Formats: sequence, structure tokens, C-alpha cells
Amino acid sequence: MGRTRKNTRNRDDISAGVRGIIAGSTEGKCDIDIPDPFCLLIFGASGDLTKRKIIPSIFRLERLNLLPRNFFILGSSRSEMTDDEFRDTMRDAVQAALPDDFSASAWKTFAKRLHYLPVGYTDVKAFKRLSRHILPLEKEHRTNGNRIIYMATPPTVLESIIQNLDDSGLSKKTTGYTHVVIEKPFGRDYDTARKLNILLKTFFEEKQIYRMDHYLAKENVQNILMFRFANSIFEPLWNRRYIDHVQITVSETIGVEHRAGYYETAGVLRDMFQNHLLQLFALIAMEPPSIFEADRVRDEKVKVFRSMRPFPVDGIDDFVVTGQYGEGKVHKKNVVAYRDEPGVAPKSVIPTFAAMKVYIDNWRWNGVPFYLRSGKRLASRKAEISIHFRPVPHIMFSQSMEEEIEPNTLVLRVQPDEGIKLSFQTKNPGSKICLNPVVMDFTYPKVFMLNAYERVLLDCMQGDQMLFVRADGMEQTWSLLTPLIEKLESAIKTDMFPNYVSGSSGPPEADALIEQDGRRWRPL
Ligand code: BG6
Repeated sequence: MGRTRKNTRNRDDISAGVRGIIAGSTEGKCDIDIPDPFCLLIFGASGDLTKRKIIPSIFRLERLNLLPRNFFILGSSRSEMTDDEFRDTMRDAVQAALPDDFSASAWKTFAKRLHYLPVGYTDVKAFKRLSRHILPLEKEHRTNGNRIIYMATPPTVLESIIQNLDDSGLSKKTTGYTHVVIEKPFGRDYDTARKLNILLKTFFEEKQIYRMDHYLAKENVQNILMFRFANSIFEPLWNRRYIDHVQITVSETIGVEHRAGYYETAGVLRDMFQNHLLQLFALIAMEPPSIFEADRVRDEKVKVFRSMRPFPVDGIDDFVVTGQYGEGKVHKKNVVAYRDEPGVAPKSVIPTFAAMKVYIDNWRWNGVPFYLRSGKRLASRKAEISIHFRPVPHIMFSQSMEEEIEPNTLVLRVQPDEGIKLSFQTKNPGSKICLNPVVMDFTYPKVFMLNAYERVLLDCMQGDQMLFVRADGMEQTWSLLTPLIEKLESAIKTDMFPNYVSGSSGPPEADALIEQDGRRWRPL
């Protein structure tokens, strides 16, 4: 891990903006290590992800003084482009992605670090050219042979890239490290994910492989472990004795946008549940690791996946509901049905919404349901985890109160307005017995927050795999979901969809899923 320069930010920056009853500490420093020099080789450099996320994130990290003096980016894809054309395209992309952070003078320096070489992904000769091209650049930028190879490509070309990296010598040991970043989707079921793991492990060690799940890098997702294990007041309550149930919601207002080609082969269960929702679930449910270290944390997450109760093949409807959006209004604007989106089959049976009930068969969670839901074109954009505590065991105010006392709820807001909210009962001033639910609300300030891509890129440069998914975790989640997805796909009929209106909170069956247990979803 590089320690050439330290960027020290006073916690004043970080606690500014804390509101509510909780005040943030203003003592101490938050240190961020500056990584060692590196080369970032991007496959898929003409694609959307490079333009929207990767290059803007590197640019912003440099603006924040979080990168070493020596680094460069070598973009590569099938498109023919010169270095200058690549720089111009990236300039437009960064300007569009970061209108407030863009500065022409900063760009001028940054642009010198950008290089480009076209490569056909199945063409070993082109990879050999790339291998020769990279060496003088590494010398010029003094990157000590440290390479990050970022696969920002569709999964269909991964196999040839990985094979050609080896055949051309690009993945062989250099004087520095080689880290490979793999974007999702990581396979489309258990078998394909396993095959991809086997292929990767033929050429790389696990410690070189960075499987992305950008949800893990969101600020309040990283905070889950700190919140759970750096406070002594919540952990004693974090179990079946005090928790009635947990809800995990990731709702989006956007539709499929321009991604029908991919989404039509995926659907919400592969796109959101196998990765983001199950990762959030594991962080909430896991046991405390002995040490805050990537593999110990990932061990505990895998144990959670192993303890998940498999979905019953018969009676699956009591556990899982799927849906697809019809037309409707989102933010007061008319939007079309999924089946009318460009590139979507007119009778598509791909689900854009799912809700499920999950149990964990272990001592801590026995009998506690976790309700997970996610969908596109819903009423609001929201990612949150809510912990619903059990009601008080005895209501001593029963003679004078008609209503039930609302149980305490702890809400971890992942986005927007990252923060934590705890609700509890107080007495209303004046009247003798009148309970009033109030909240303690902490909102993260926006002043110094790295976005998910900035965080993961930095971690990959630092060699920290905590926020990346390990092979066994990936396979375990697929092994749970694959039979479920196959069962649902075999039972689906064209006339079942669309079954929810865009801008609503999903299909009515999703409400029934939780209401049959006498509970209710938190409103979107
Ligand atoms: C991606 C999914 O992984 O996450 C998209 O492929 C989804 O379908 C996106 O829209 C949501 O991410 P975020 O960070 O915008 O909540």
C-alpha cells in the first residue's frame, strides 16, 4: 500500500452539515493514503461506463489530490481512435459528468495522462501490439510496472480478453502488481459464474481479482459495519429477541433506459438481487469479524449466504413476487410501459420488480424475516435498510390509549440523503398520556464524500479487497438464486405482465407478501 503522500482532511469538513440531535465529533483527522504510481488499462474505453464513471472518477480523485504524481490511463476498445480523439471524447464526458468540478487548466494536465490504442478483443496480434505499446508509457510515466486492468466490456468478450492477456504476456508478472477489475454482470447463473471464476483463476490469483459491486462502496453501506461494530448499544439488540423483521429496499424511478439489450437477458433478480441487495443483506446479518480485514469480513458474509434458507420450490409465491412496469407517470411525466421501451420484446416476460422474503437459519436470526424489494419505475428513488424492533412486551397505558404503540425503527438511508434515523416514543408535553413518535436523524454531509466508483478505484489502487466480492461469495449467491430464477422463468406467462403502474410502489401482490405476515412496507 502506497504512503508517498498523505492527504489529511480535518473531521470538521466531515462533520459539518450534521443535523438533528446528534452532533458529529470535530476532533481528530481522517487520513487517506495516496496510492503508489499505476497504469490503468481500460478495455471498453469507448463505452458508456468509461465515459460516465471511470474517467470522471479518476479526474475527480486527481482534483482532490488523492492520486500519486505518476499515473496514466491507456484506453482500449474496438473503435479506431487516436490519442487526441480519445482525449476530446473524454473531455466532453468529464464536463458532462462533473459540471461543477471541471476546470480547463486541470483538464490540460490530466489529458496528458490519457492514451489510446484500438484492439480487437479476439485478435492476439493486437494484444501483442498493446503489450509493446504499454512498456514505453510505463517508463515515461514511471509507474513501476503497477497495472490495473479494468474490464468495462460486455461479458461476452471477457473470455477472449482474459485469454489474450495471457497469450500476449500482458497478464504475466511485472515488476509491480497486476489487479484485474471485473464489472457486473458476473455470469448469468451459477454455472456461468463458476466458469468465469475458473477462467480467471487460471491466470490470476484471487488477491489480484476485484469483482465489482458498486453498492458496497456507497458511503452508508460502508458505514454499516462501523455502525454495528463500533457502537456497543445496538449490537446486543441485533438479533431475534429484539428485532421483529428487516426490510431492504432499492427502488428506482428510472426505467430500463438504453440498456434493453442487457436487461432483456437479465431482469431484476440478476441485475439487482444477486449482487446489490444480497450484499446489503449480508452486511446487516453477518457476525462480527475478528478483525476489520478484507478476507475476515468476506468470510462472515459468505457464512450468511450459506445459512440462508433455500426458497421452497413448491409454494414459491409465498416468498417471491415479481412484476413488470406498465405505463404511468413518474415525477408528473408520462412514461411508457417496459414492453414499449426501445429494444424490448413486445411480449417480454422479463421482471423489472421483485419482492422476496428470506430467512436465515442460525441462532441470531432464527424466525426473523428479511423482506427485500427492488424495482424500476417506482414512486421514488430510494435505497434503505430498516430494522423494525419488536413491540413493547406489555402496554401499561392500555386503559387510556386506543392506538397501538408504534415499535422503534432504525433506518439506514443508503441514498439519497445518506444517513441514519432512529424513531422512538416520547410524551407529548401538556397532556397526561399522549405518546408522540419522534426521530433522531443524522444526515451525512456532502462536503467530502467519494462516490462509489471513486472509492472502488482508490481501493483497487491500494490493494484493498474489502469492497469487492470474493469468488466463493459470488458462487454462493448464484447458487441460491439460480434455482429460484429458473423456477420463476418456467412458470411465467405473457399475460401476467405488466402488473404495476409506473410511478406506483409495485404490484399489489408485493403488498400482500408482507401483509400476510401482519406487517407493512415502509412507504416509498
Ligand atoms: C446497476 C444496475 O448495477 O445499478 C442498474 O445494473 C441500476 O440497473 C443501478 O439502475 C443502480 O445503481 P445506483 O447507484 O444508481 O443506485
